[in-house]
Amino acid sequence: MKEDIKTTSAPWKQIANMWNTYFTPPSRISKDEDEKYKEWLKEIKGERMKALVLGVTPEIREALIELGYETICIDINKEMILAMDSVLRMKNPNEVVINEDWLKNSLKDNDFDVVAGDCVLSNVKWQERDKLLLEIKRVLKPSGIFITRFFSIPREKPFRTINEVLEHFSKKEPNYRSALELVFELQIFCYNPEDHKGTFSEPKKVLEKLRVGDKFNFESKNLNKILDIVWNFWCEKYINKIYYYPYRDEEEERIEKFFEILKIYEAKDNDYSKITPMYFLKSL
Ligand SMILES: C[S@@+](CC[C@H](N)C(=O)[O-])C[C@H]1O[C@@H](n2cnc3c(N)ncnc32)[C@H](O)[C@@H]1O
Repeated sequence: MKEDIKTTSAPWKQIANMWNTYFTPPSRISKDEDEKYKEWLKEIKGERMKALVLGVTPEIREALIELGYETICIDINKEMILAMDSVLRMKNPNEVVINEDWLKNSLKDNDFDVVAGDCVLSNVKWQERDKLLLEIKRVLKPSGIFITRFFSIPREKPFRTINEVLEHFSKKEPNYRSALELVFELQIFCYNPEDHKGTFSEPKKVLEKLRVGDKFNFESKNLNKILDIVWNFWCEKYINKIYYYPYRDEEEERIEKFFEILKIYEAKDNDYSKITPMYFLKSL
């Protein structure tokens, strides 16, 4: 599959109106992570603070509203901007949303006290990671703060075979969260450190072999329900999307070229928090 904006950023527009249903933790911010974003944003809050949000993540925007930040959000997809506006529980008179690319934008140098974004780096091509980090540094004031989570891949895969993965999920309640967790596990299972890609096409190939006719027919009804959500949404509606995942230590090494890591937080209510930790970073 070709690597360009059509596979990194554009697929979001296809699922914008479904995001609120299908995106649960660990992809979406958990309650504990939400509290931590608020706590960190409160901790650095001074007079007349200006924040940049990478994306239009409702939880981060609501935290900034409550704390009285002047805010700019930047997102490449109009569909996501509209869909997230409808999810927001309050409007911010001090917020402006711009429809631009993080990597090519009209933002001024040294303008923001803080940049915040949830798992943004996995949305740009591997070769563009440094570019995005440099862009964040450019728009931050000297010693400005960058707050984010990262998605990463464990160096040791938790499951050796697909049967082990299925066995684990057959004991779970079928819901959107367990379906998303299965997507994570399938992406980890299919991960190739040579290309760093988290696709939906590779998991789909694995699942295709498990189907009997046009359905999943395992003994566990719960497992079939979880697989149905993964197949019908993640492997259909979001099939073009590619994420780029690092190993956690590899990512921390990269970050430290541009930022000082002041704090790391692993949420208590996210079973994947070791591979989706939160970072509080100071621009070097
Ligand atoms: C902030 S990210 C991650 C949100 C969430 N934590 C997740 O991974 O499911 C998602 C948002 O980034 C936006 N986005 C992706 N690539 C972008 C780019 N290059 N420039 C601007 N916005 C981009 C998408 O449109 C989407 O609204």
